[in-house]
Amino acid sequence: MRVLVTGGAGFIGSYIVRTLASGGHEPVVLDALLPSAHGPAGSGVPASGDLPPGVRTVVADVRDREAVAGALRGVGAVCHQAAMVGLGKDFADAPEYVGCNDLGTAVLLAGMAEAGIRDLVLAGSMVVYGEGRYDCPRHGTVRPGPRAVADLDAGRFEPHCPRCGAELVPGLVTEEAPGDPRNVYAATKLAQEHLAAAWTRATGGRAVALRYHNVYGPGMPRDTPYAGVASYFRSALARGEAPQVFEDGNQRRDFVHVRDVAAANAVALAALGEREPGTFDAYNTGSGTPHTIGEMAWALSSAHGGPDPVVTGEYRLGDVRHVTADSRRLREELGWKPGTEFAQGMREFATAPLRSSGEPDEAGDR
Ligand SMILES: NC(=O)c1ccc[n+]([C@@H]2O[C@H](COP(=O)([O-])OP(=O)(O)OC[C@H]3O[C@@H](n4cnc5c(N)ncnc54)[C@H](O)[C@@H]3O)[C@@H](O)[C@H]2O)c1
Ligand SMILES: [Zn+2]
Repeated sequence: MRVLVTGGAGFIGSYIVRTLASGGHEPVVLDALLPSAHGPAGSGVPASGDLPPGVRTVVADVRDREAVAGALRGVGAVCHQAAMVGLGKDFADAPEYVGCNDLGTAVLLAGMAEAGIRDLVLAGSMVVYGEGRYDCPRHGTVRPGPRAVADLDAGRFEPHCPRCGAELVPGLVTEEAPGDPRNVYAATKLAQEHLAAAWTRATGGRAVALRYHNVYGPGMPRDTPYAGVASYFRSALARGEAPQVFEDGNQRRDFVHVRDVAAANAVALAALGEREPGTFDAYNTGSGTPHTIGEMAWALSSAHGGPDPVVTGEYRLGDVRHVTADSRRLREELGWKPGTEFAQGMREFATAPLRSSGEPDEAGDR
């Protein structure tokens, strides 16, 4: 089947393209090669250099109706990965996040409706849940609000029970947990899901959102405000600097390897064919084994041969303390199984190349 992969020149998208091609599909890429992801315009052909030979690549913005219509020709399904990611520089980035992620999704879905394309795999995100699941010894499952600046300044990073102030035990978030986006990017990812669900109802389409956890692996973009924490640590090590661990390093996340995320897209695509028209389903996509940010910094730094991480106590407003997914549904319903476990994946990632931003790198690593 011909499958359009939007954002197919990006970190995750390029793995999906290769996975689909080796699975006998014909991937087509639509990607604007955003400078925030690929470095300044004119800095060379970025990640698309990694695409399998012969993959048709449309360099265009997903908000461009005509380009989208052209890219959708002959296509049977879409894997929608194109998005601006990360926390961004400051709130001034908000219109561009909303434009790329939500207007872009609306234009894509309208194009699919017009072309009669019914199957969509959406790159969702764990960020839609905000703070993860917490249990209070007295009040059961509770939903702590955003952490107060005064607490963060004082190094009180753990959220407390909103009813009695007790310490909470972090747990695994399931797909039923309500959306609670805590920053602009998170709000745009949740809106993408709402748009996709509305599209399935209006058109009889079928959509699966894979709510990726923290994805890492070779080819991850460098440390820009638009990248993830694994890339910050990895980039610091490449420069011979200590990874700077924010808060106290005990923030819990689930690090899932990019190859496993690409495989999840392939199984989701295959499963769409058996779904009822007009259905939208979300699946957490994580390794199933939570780790702390501090553990990740140490794993990378020891595999790299130092320097040791430094815990700085700094924080970023908009970051959540703990969020870890329960990815059982994806395993049980779609038969997906992550193939790369933490220690092995981090060892590989510690020395694997990051994606070139187009800028020459001091450490000569690309
Ligand atoms: N990396 C993670 O840890 C993570 C976690 C959860 C969800 N996701 C989601 O996965 C998807 C892929 O992320 P990634 O980590 O590969 O990021 P990335 O920046 O490497 O890739 C995104 C790609 O989308 C393209 N793009 C962005 N806006 C576009 C637009 N308006 N028109 C056309 N192309 C556009 C960029 O040029 C880039 O190539 C995103 O939807 C992201 O929200 C990523
Ligand atoms: Zn309580």
